[in-house]
Amino acid sequence: MSQVIEYSEKVMDHFTNPRNVGEIEEASGVGTVGNAKCGDIMRIYLDIENDIIKDAKFKTFGCGAAVATSSMATELIIGKTVKEALLVTNKAVMEALDGLPPVKVHCSLLAEEAIHAALWDYAQKNNIEIDGLKPPVEDIDETEEFYAMEGE
Ligand code: FES
Repeated sequence: MSQVIEYSEKVMDHFTNPRNVGEIEEASGVGTVGNAKCGDIMRIYLDIENDIIKDAKFKTFGCGAAVATSSMATELIIGKTVKEALLVTNKAVMEALDGLPPVKVHCSLLAEEAIHAALWDYAQKNNIEIDGLKPPVEDIDETEEFYAMEGE
């Protein structure tokens, strides 16, 4: 029996009309993460100037929820400081999208982790430490259960 998954209007909007798709040449930081279980991959590019995220772009090879969360995540972090961007969790992205079905919570993790990976790359390139930023995980599947529980 197939199960019908309902998405919010915002999710559908960001999926059919995603914001900030593309890449940034000579980006300040680039982060790529994937989920080995579903095979989806997300890459986020950041342009950072004087500690402010001037621009963010993404490329997502993944499901509709992953596209919508990447789109919303880039919208949320543009204009923020590095520290503020670090606080944009998968939960915040889901809230901004008016929620995601439970089976799709893991998709929003790609967005959070891709932002962290891009910030990590920026920190490495500039030889700085960002308080509270942990080394990125390449496969978010490892952390999925923990985050899925937290996101409930
Ligand atoms: Fe893999 Fe959504 S199913 S990110």
